Amino acid sequence: MWRTLALASAFFPGLFALCIRLLRWAAPGWSLKDRILLSGRLVSTVQATMATVSGIMVVLNCKDVVYDRHWLAVEYVWVLVPYMTYDIYVMYLCHWHKSRERGVAEKKHSLPSVRSFLLQERLMVTHHLFILVVLTPVTQLKMQDTLLHKVNGILILVTFFLCRILLFPFMYAAYARQVGIPVYMVPFRIPLHCNIANASLIAPQLYWFRLICRKAVRLYGSSPADKSR
Ligand SMILES: *[C@@H]1O[C@H](CO)[C@@H](O)[C@H](O)[C@H]1NC(C)=O
Repeated sequence: MWRTLALASAFFPGLFALCIRLLRWAAPGWSLKDRILLSGRLVSTVQATMATVSGIMVVLNCKDVVYDRHWLAVEYVWVLVPYMTYDIYVMYLCHWHKSRERGVAEKKHSLPSVRSFLLQERLMVTHHLFILVVLTPVTQLKMQDTLLHKVNGILILVTFFLCRILLFPFMYAAYARQVGIPVYMVPFRIPLHCNIANASLIAPQLYWFRLICRKAVRLYGSSPADKSR
């Protein structure tokens, strides 16, 4: 636990700093803000990949869906804690650099600037994690109409649906299969607090999924002429 915690605490900020440096070398024309934004996204991608691989390994190795404990599932928490802490700071940095670009920034790391960040945190978290991060990385480069951007959008829609929404029916089905009851009986067989916890977990996912779908409709629904208007 402590070793994982220490390793992850060094890994994510270290990777972030490395990305910033590499980008300064690879794309000297970019502003610091753009380098921070892209580096943050690259680190998020690395974390997402690690989490996905761990998740697949856990699913493949656990037979008893109620009592099996995979060491990776427990250990990964100690990767997530430093990552989340780091990510909130990067979100603050992005927020600050964007405010400065709009000419409304408070002094960096000052109390008012942190307050302004926290006031917008809800919006930031939603945006940052699910739309800004994934659906619009290429928008800045004015590439909304490229095929790559559209394919990326479709991939996000599909993976989000598979991994964040279908995960819940999958859990219920796994339980039903193990206990030998039909799926629709599961909500009545497991403790009420599990149903409540699952419902409160899936609710924000559905909300984000709706946002992503709306964005996709706008992206694919309008002709180029609409966009320039
Ligand atoms: C969600 O439901 C599953 C059963 O399908 C249960 O094992 C799990 O503990 C629930 N999640 C939470 C956070 O309670």
